[in-house]
Amino acid sequence: MTPIIGVVGGGQLARMMLPVAARLGLRLVFLARPGDAVAAVWPDVVEGEPDAAGLRRLAERVDVITVEHELVDLDTLRALAGEGLAVRPSADTLDVAVDKVRQREVLGAAGVPMAPWTLAGDLDAIGAFGAEHGWPLVLKRPRGGYDGRGVWMVDDAAAARAVVDEVDGAALLVEPQVALTGELAVLVARRPGGETVVYDPVETVQVDAMCREVLQPPRVSAVAAERAHDIGRRVADAIDSIGMLSVELFVSGDEVLLNELAARPHNAGHLTIEAAATSQFENHLRAVADLPLGAPTARGPAAMVNVVGGDVDPYERLADALAAEPDVAVHLYGKDYRRGRKLGHVTATGPDLDRARHAALHAVDVLTMPAS
Ligand SMILES: Nc1ncnc2c1ncn2[C@@H]1O[C@H](COP(=O)(O)OP(=O)(O)OP(=O)(O)O)[C@@H](O)[C@H]1O
Ligand SMILES: [Mg+2]
Repeated sequence: MTPIIGVVGGGQLARMMLPVAARLGLRLVFLARPGDAVAAVWPDVVEGEPDAAGLRRLAERVDVITVEHELVDLDTLRALAGEGLAVRPSADTLDVAVDKVRQREVLGAAGVPMAPWTLAGDLDAIGAFGAEHGWPLVLKRPRGGYDGRGVWMVDDAAAARAVVDEVDGAALLVEPQVALTGELAVLVARRPGGETVVYDPVETVQVDAMCREVLQPPRVSAVAAERAHDIGRRVADAIDSIGMLSVELFVSGDEVLLNELAARPHNAGHLTIEAAATSQFENHLRAVADLPLGAPTARGPAAMVNVVGGDVDPYERLADALAAEPDVAVHLYGKDYRRGRKLGHVTATGPDLDRARHAALHAVDVLTMPAS
């Protein structure tokens, strides 16, 4: 029998699992809050927080637990696994995924290439690192950052001091600013027992340290793409990931370095819904249910552009966007409009990357700007 899958979280990643579950007839139960993106459209929701009480209530209803975000009580996940519940990915994998310092410790030991780094407890340590490796530096909160919140580029000690003050002296991950020629993400699906499929790397384009576009194929050298592929597989094995894994990578010419990883479906993989033989959401659920994985094969050039809250609620502009770009796939997550918030995305496929990119960007412009 196919297991009943419990998903911790009810945001857009959870919501994008629903069409797959409906098609394959998989039974999903979400641990979510009443206002979350899945709550409005799916009957099987356990209301609660991802804490001990919430996780235990979810566990009573399901055969296997997975997550759509990493901010989960890992001690309880460990305890549930000890009591015989399948937890995929494991608490140990999530423990690495939630912490950019742990990622560097564990994956450095596994031979994954990365920029020099240190964990600095004060301004002197940051200064010493800058003196050794050169400014500018990048300072990061080891945990809890997203969409560039918790990442600061600093040119000198004065700028670093402002960040140290802002975080009240908490320890910061320090890296040199890499001379980027691009960024990649490589998606990997891995099943219990180790069956693995690796998607061809995609290019990610960040604006103000927040992902704006994802492009397939990436505009990087064949050598860089091949290296990204190898790193993806190596990371998945090193942390024993189950389900989807997204590894974000810095590219500098042919050199490819680790940025960070997420042990779940990820924004970089949204275009797999329309532009791969098997979407990341499908392969996540297949892996978690221990079903055979689907082919990751790309279906040709594609571009995904995020819909970030602009001057207008995108729902007001939906009809205009659909009329303006009838070939693109518009995804709106049902979230309340707020400026700067990720509210949806648009994916366009073919015939070439340039045209896909322009169509997706145009649709997003219409969705985020008031009618003139
Ligand atoms: N050492 C570095 N050198 C150059 N650019 C960097 C460096 N570290 C981070 N960046 C830039 O900042 C972006 C965000 O960094 P990171 O991925 O660590 O942040 P995040 O907030 O956790 O990300 P996400 O938006 O994926 O949640 C990177 O994609 C990259 O563009
Ligand atoms: Mg990132």
